[in-house]
Amino acid sequence: MDYETVVLHTRRELLEETATLLNREWPRSMAARVASLEGGVDELPCSLVLLNSGGAVVGHARLLPVAGATNAALIESVVVCQECRGCGLGRRLMEESETYCVRVGYNAMHLSTHDQQGFYHHLGYQDGPSVNGRRKCVTNLTENQTQSLLGGAAAVDSTQPETDFRPPPVDPVAPPPPTGPAPPPPPPPKLVDRTVPSQIVNWMVKQLA
Ligand code: ACO
Repeated sequence: MDYETVVLHTRRELLEETATLLNREWPRSMAARVASLEGGVDELPCSLVLLNSGGAVVGHARLLPVAGATNAALIESVVVCQECRGCGLGRRLMEESETYCVRVGYNAMHLSTHDQQGFYHHLGYQDGPSVNGRRKCVTNLTENQTQSLLGGAAAVDSTQPETDFRPPPVDPVAPPPPTGPAPPPPPPPKLVDRTVPSQIVNWMVKQLA
């Protein structure tokens, strides 16, 4: 099958489909998601999307400049649709993202991941420093467009970074109400070591060109 990578900003009709792909992996309000996908052409931030030969969105990567650095980029929200994984599309998306960044003047790519270090290491990424992406908090959507995507409610928050953290699934079956005598009071809370993160974030970097 033939695939094509495009800059999302040049194909705005793909915004909703791209948002849906991302939301399947990392659920978020549709309006917040669409707002987070704004970008430019030949500049970062921007999103690259991978299309199959039928024109369907099968992959996405978000590229941002690193705050406080001149030539470093941050890649996040890398995703390939579930049915297409393991066929080389993730590699293709990463390589085309790197090529794009080099073309627009960047020479290093940073990323963070909770559980895909093996994939990124395989593509040449090494342990690196933590960085912040420089985001633009703008949307070109009209109020009406935002509301219709929302179905009427919810706030737009395009400032939240994407990570590959997935919240644990919620058990839809509620436990039955307790019967018998009331349970004893809970023990006093243990002291929690706040220096130990509950989810380890691995920062990685690759020098480009
Ligand atoms: N460990 C080691 N190697 C790996 C791993 C792994 N966990 N996963 C894939 N590879 C290798 C493959 O064997 C392949 O090797 P080859 O090209 O030498 O034959 C190469 O990496 C490329 O694999 P692809 O088939 O291109 O990977 P895929 O299309 O499955 O995409 C991706 C990988 C994007 C991580 C996909 O699994 C996905 O969408 N996962 C869910 C979302 C996610 O976790 N995204 C990462 C978020 S972190 C971030 O955005 C910076």
